[in-house]
Amino acid sequence: MIKTLSPEIIENKVILIRLDLNVPLKDGHVLEDTRIVESLPTLHYLLKNKAQRIHILTHLGRPKGEIIPDLSAKHLIDELESKLGEAVEFRDDYSAGESRVQLHENTRFRKEEKKGDQEAFAQEILDGTEAEIFINDGFAVSHRAQTSVVGFAGKIPCYAGFLLQKEIEALAPFLTDEKIPGLVLVSGGAKMETKVPVLKHFAKIADHILVGGALSNTFQVAQGYDVGESLYQEDQVETAREVLEIASTFKTGFHMPIDVICADTPDSTETADLPIEDVSGDAKIFDIGPHSIASFSEILQYSNVIIWNGPLGMMEKKPFARGTQAIAGVIGAQTNARTILGGGDTIEALRLFGLDKSRFTHVSTGGGAMLEFLAGNELPGIEILK
Ligand code: 3PG
Repeated sequence: MIKTLSPEIIENKVILIRLDLNVPLKDGHVLEDTRIVESLPTLHYLLKNKAQRIHILTHLGRPKGEIIPDLSAKHLIDELESKLGEAVEFRDDYSAGESRVQLHENTRFRKEEKKGDQEAFAQEILDGTEAEIFINDGFAVSHRAQTSVVGFAGKIPCYAGFLLQKEIEALAPFLTDEKIPGLVLVSGGAKMETKVPVLKHFAKIADHILVGGALSNTFQVAQGYDVGESLYQEDQVETAREVLEIASTFKTGFHMPIDVICADTPDSTETADLPIEDVSGDAKIFDIGPHSIASFSEILQYSNVIIWNGPLGMMEKKPFARGTQAIAGVIGAQTNARTILGGGDTIEALRLFGLDKSRFTHVSTGGGAMLEFLAGNELPGIEILK
């Protein structure tokens, strides 16, 4: 059980809260605001229940201990203020200012966020803010044992925020060893390493797994197909075979694209739809083809629960966006199924194709954190709340 909030814990207290406001920015403006919007319920609750002061910590990008002006948390102030309906004071250090809500500078501008004297950094934050309680509501960063996530444990009481609780409630039902009838996992993107633990787990509990993106090329190679000059991971081919073996043992349907959209380069406008067995030579795969879309869609239409992480093709290039767009549309139209998706690229797909988040049961704010949670790993930022 994790420790949760109640009004008496908050009243008159100085509160330190870790959020994950790591949102995509362009020219200092927020491009996609899911993580800000999802952080609001806890902030509103703190304000309503008379918190004395609220000190917000977040990271932005991966500055690795360097001060990178484009990654300053000050770019979040306007968006946060207007959404919260309350003035937010920016602090470029960890001292306390005057306002009720204060947003501190990107924690990753300090190298001690990740390594070195993390203990001293945590104490500096506590001394500066005079915080009396700590709340972790940054689900998306809870897989990182970094100072601003785990460093206050044992020093002041630590609690879970509402977003963290909501994420755990949505994702915990999949931490079972039992088959979940009608469960389909849709997995795309590029990096095998981050997806393999989840694929291995769902190869046991799902009815079907559908793969696309560069990920599926590695599986095609594992099955003996030629992927031409497409991106795939040679060092993961054996692991892909292990996943296929588990799926076969547990009678889980493992579906790879039967046809693919190929081109010479990602910028080519000339494309060819080829059956996977016809890919060879210098062909490069950039999307799943129409027959794959049709067969994936049919499986999705008969599902009860769908989990989706990762684009199925190079969706940022128009000629290769169709697979991801079509499958996203089918998942979004499944009103009788529970639909859960997550990851920065997956949320970006919704934005790109104009799909409303309300069409899905749960849009996780976590990318890596969601994958680690679903693979059954302990997340340090959750462990400290137990
Ligand atoms: C994310 O975007 O997944 C989180 O903000 C964590 O970021 P990180 O992978 O740089 O730790």
